[in-house]
Amino acid sequence: MSWKFVIQQGVIMATIREVPSKVRRFERIGAHTHIKGLGLDENLNAIKVKDGMVGQEKAREAAGLVIQMIKEGKLSGKTVILAGPPGTGKTAIAVAVSRELGANVPFIQMSGSEVYSSERKKTEVLLGAIRKCIGVEIHEMRKVYEGELITIDIKTAPHPYNPYQKVPESIRLSLKTEKEEKTIEAGASIAQQIMQENISEGNVIQIDAETGRVVNLGLSLESAKGKTYDVDTRKKIPRPTGEVMKEKEFVYTLALSDMDEINARRRFGGGIFSMFMGGSETKEIDTEVRTAVDESVKNLVDEGKAFIHPGVLFIDDSHLLDLEAFSFLGRAIESELVPIIILATNRGVTTIRGTDVKSPMGFPLDLIDRSVIIATHEYDPESIREILSIRSGEEKVELQKKALEKLTEVGAKSSLRYSVQLLSLSAQNARTMKHKKVSAKDVERVTKLFMDIGEAAEHLRKYEEKMMKH
Ligand SMILES: Nc1ncnc2c1ncn2[C@@H]1O[C@H](COP(=O)(O)OP(=O)(O)OP(=O)(O)O)[C@@H](O)[C@H]1O
Ligand SMILES: [Mg+2]
Repeated sequence: MSWKFVIQQGVIMATIREVPSKVRRFERIGAHTHIKGLGLDENLNAIKVKDGMVGQEKAREAAGLVIQMIKEGKLSGKTVILAGPPGTGKTAIAVAVSRELGANVPFIQMSGSEVYSSERKKTEVLLGAIRKCIGVEIHEMRKVYEGELITIDIKTAPHPYNPYQKVPESIRLSLKTEKEEKTIEAGASIAQQIMQENISEGNVIQIDAETGRVVNLGLSLESAKGKTYDVDTRKKIPRPTGEVMKEKEFVYTLALSDMDEINARRRFGGGIFSMFMGGSETKEIDTEVRTAVDESVKNLVDEGKAFIHPGVLFIDDSHLLDLEAFSFLGRAIESELVPIIILATNRGVTTIRGTDVKSPMGFPLDLIDRSVIIATHEYDPESIREILSIRSGEEKVELQKKALEKLTEVGAKSSLRYSVQLLSLSAQNARTMKHKKVSAKDVERVTKLFMDIGEAAEHLRKYEEKMMKH
């Protein structure tokens, strides 16, 4: 990668922060949308009901400490295990951790079962996930043209393959700052971007001198449009000061996996061959590419031009991992560029997958040795009631008092998770029956229609007996 850097000492420059769409936060959080954080006070003590969290204070406080250590970079090479019975909020706590970590820290969630793919090796899946969780914040000085767009003149030409269609050929535009006005001419790609983004006079734009990337920064407050359109939803900003052509510091965060992909694509060329062979979507990335990326990242860090943000890899239901996957993780956490790994499981003592060795939680002992364990416990009815009413608010469901009581009862008897599911189902039932508030009857109906895990097991067992007789 050819990052061009200019020494930034003594230069005070505006900082543009881009959060790339590539560092994806996980999406499978439907059941956890009410969780906004861990609900701790400034001394990291849990407040019983806060940030959508209820009870489970010890686990929340422990997670708070873990976050503090992550932020201070003191937890690398360790894993955190979340252990507790089903529906006791392990996934919820992991979601809260991701909320607390902030946008700059990558957080990736996967399930233990995701390592089993017919296309990729287990270790490859894990390594890919690990590298997604390491954010590299890169600081770079770049030359840009920046100013309020005063005039704009786009020349078009017939499309090379379709003479009836016009395409932009070149562009001439004037940019104004508080200090000066400059006219620049540019080619088709910039003209195209300006047309596509619907950029017009009055907008403040920025054009990268080297790559030609155009960014629309907003509407200038000084422009005619900026002054008149009060209800305009576009962001309004002051006209830039200084010269039109200037150097700015850009800060962007890429995940290591993004850098792997960019490098792999470069290496195998973006030529015709790869286009026909569908080369760009690389399924597996070479070790060589990764080593090269690691090297260049380390160099950038040494030169003070990049900072590493180790993120969090959360593997839910991690008893589904097998010995090979565990050994790989064990080795991975010893290496230099590694995220914090949180493993959640609801198993007690069980066999480690891929062996007949029994072990606590189904994890190898040497991994457990290097972990901190956070336990979650079953809820009392009061907490269940509280969580259910938070959930009903979140899902915009109105519950009659009796319906809430009924759901709480179900939650205490089987599991919180099950009663949260029944809440949505009861609401659906109420909607079908065309009444606004969910009543105890709705809950009773869906309780009869659906089974919890215990009932389902019992049901199937009965059938098994019947089958044996035949
Ligand atoms: N302390 C809590 N405060 C608020 N909501 C909670 C809390 N604990 C759990 N929940 C909610 O209850 C439901 C079930 O919890 P969750 O899925 O986190 O359990 P789990 O321990 O991950 O279960 P499993 O072992 O089955 O994966 C979710 O909707 C979750 O958001
Ligand atoms: Mg879970």
